[in-house]
Parts: sequence; structure tokens; C-alpha cells
Amino acid sequence: MNFTFKDYYHNEVELSFGKEPFSSTPKHVWVVCKYKNQWLLTRHRTRGLEFPGGKVEAGETAEEAAIREVMEETGGIIQEITYLAQYYVDGKRDFIIKNVYFATIKSLQPREDYMETLGPVLLKELPQNIKQNRQYSFMMKDDVLVHCLACLND
Ligand code: GTP
Repeated sequence: MNFTFKDYYHNEVELSFGKEPFSSTPKHVWVVCKYKNQWLLTRHRTRGLEFPGGKVEAGETAEEAAIREVMEETGGIIQEITYLAQYYVDGKRDFIIKNVYFATIKSLQPREDYMETLGPVLLKELPQNIKQNRQYSFMMKDDVLVHCLACLND
């Protein structure tokens, strides 16, 4: 299944639920996390609330990066992680390709430092008005989130 839409900055996004259709070595990852019956997000210092994620480092697989980013940005230790989708953002000057995972978290370990974030935020429900809500990061404001949540509900 493929979807195309514009992101918060009006960049064109293509989202696919197929197996890594745009690249088998994506450079970015994003992880929709659940801890018990709550969503686990992080509060990025400048972007605001978002699911954890970031860049794949040299020598790492995308899944290894996903596990590391969840730990660094939330202290979350993953129980199970599954690939969900991949998306391509045409950023005009550059493009990015990002894998989306769904992870269940078995525990949260407090950390001294959460990198460029202020650490974990647990939410029973994601608000309906994320697209207009200034507390939320632009990454949460396009249809990547909408389609990924719908996929998890199926
Ligand atoms: P640094 O090297 O860490 O400074 O990163 P950067 O600011 O160059 O950003 P990055 O390489 O992570 O992304 C480049 C651009 O791609 C961003 O400015 C965004 O416009 C876009 N981008 C990155 N991640 C996402 C995403 O998850 N969704 C959407 N729609 N755009 C994204």
C-alpha cells in the first residue's frame, strides 16, 4: 500500500507499507512506541513532542539505530520491534528515507541525559488536534502518523 501527501513544510512524502521499497539502507528511523498501555514519546528540545528516532550511524543497521535511539531519547528498553513502513521525503535541496518501526517497551531506565531531547513522555491517548497543537513536532503532523496508527489498529 502506497500513499503520497504533503508534510508540514509542504514537502512531498511517499509512504509505503511494503518492505523497504525506497532503500535497503535508509539513513533515518522513527519508532512508534508503546509502554504498557501508553504511548511513549520524547520531548525534543526544539521540535516538541514526537516518537523517538534519528539517524542511522556508520556500521549500524536501521533496526539497531531504532533500538539505540529509543534508549537514548527515552530510556526505553525494547521488548519487541517490528518494521512497519518506509517513507521518502523530497526536501527540495535533499531527500531523506526513513524506516518506521513499532516497538513495545519492557522497561524505562532513567538516564542522566537524553541527548537532544528532554526525555520520555507517556500518554494514554494521542490528542485529536496534533496537527494544530504547537507542543507537537512537525514529524507528528503529516499523514505518516495517521496511516501508521491505522495500520496498527488493523
Ligand atoms: P542535522 O544534520 O541533524 O542537523 O539534520 P538536518 O536538520 O539536516 O535534518 P535531517 O537530515 O534529519 O533532515 C533533513 C530535512 O528532512 C529536515 O529539515 C526535514 O525537512 C526533513 N525531514 C527529516 N525527517 C523528517 C520526517 O520524519 N518527516 C518529514 N516530513 N520530513 C522530515
